[in-house]
Amino acid sequence: MQVERVQALALGRLNELPEKFIRPAHEQPLNTRAVEGIAVPVISLAKPHNVIVEEVSEAAAQWGFFLITDHGIPASLIEELQKVGKEFYMLPQEEKEAYANDPASGRFDGYGTRMTKNHDDKVEWIDYFFHHTAPPSKVNYDIWPKNPPSYGQVNEEYKKEMLKVTDKLLEVLSEGLGLDRKVLKSHMGDGEVELEMKINMYPPCPQPELALGVEPHTDMSALTLLVSNDVPGLQLWKDDNWVAVNYLPNAVFVNIGDQMEVLSNGKYKSVLHRSLVNKERLRMSWAVFIAPPHEAVIGPLTELVDEQNPAKYSTKTYGEYRHRKFNKIPQ
Ligand code: OGA
Ligand code: NI
Repeated sequence: MQVERVQALALGRLNELPEKFIRPAHEQPLNTRAVEGIAVPVISLAKPHNVIVEEVSEAAAQWGFFLITDHGIPASLIEELQKVGKEFYMLPQEEKEAYANDPASGRFDGYGTRMTKNHDDKVEWIDYFFHHTAPPSKVNYDIWPKNPPSYGQVNEEYKKEMLKVTDKLLEVLSEGLGLDRKVLKSHMGDGEVELEMKINMYPPCPQPELALGVEPHTDMSALTLLVSNDVPGLQLWKDDNWVAVNYLPNAVFVNIGDQMEVLSNGKYKSVLHRSLVNKERLRMSWAVFIAPPHEAVIGPLTELVDEQNPAKYSTKTYGEYRHRKFNKIPQ
């Protein structure tokens, strides 16, 4: 069955948003109070190590979110990553359809658009491309875009940088829990940590004040590292308000995900977030989800649990956790 892509729909220059995209009133950007200008933590990885540990663990606990700068990823590589991603979406529709995924039959890798409606009967204003980038044994290179031809090489390079940043963040987050720097990595499968790339494409939307790009959710990963083009759209749920995250050139957005909240026994918060869309401008973002292998056992770290600090979460394999949703959705 041919899936209706949001990008193709947007090309039709609609004057009105089709009904299936119109969010219930309490979710519409128009009707929610969004706080602009309160500062989301920005952390330079060039600071002394003990300062980074303090700032990262504080941000992970208070916000579940921060931006990193001086992370060592070449600006030219981030530019290339964005260029090849954009070029893929500019291909003729038939060429993109050759990569279509099929979540209903368990094939998540590939080109996708959310078809299944959520409980509110609404869908999101977004197309995406999803594929694994690590470890090599989990990567289906056949589904990676073959066009533009440099897509594969650029994404391999970017994966290496993501693995380096992941190592650094896992060390710092371990130390922030008062533990040896290797502890979190050892619970994430060591060298078998999984990286998944999701390229989000939010075409211009005729009535952005009624729609959402992605609806409120927490990421089920342990961490998510995201870069976007220069169009802002991400919002975080903080102290009962939506807080807009501004674009900062070359910074990488870091989300704490569900698995990190569980491992830290609730010290680090998996942040509830959503994204808005734009009337004139195309927004794109590149999210890398960092997750343990399916069979990894995830529960509050035993070092953090005692009589005074009982476990707040059950212990399950990551594969089992996948089916559990953190319920942080504001009503
Ligand atoms: C996601 C996500 C936000 C964004 O893909 O999980 O939250 O800014 N994306 O695109
Ligand atoms: Ni997310």
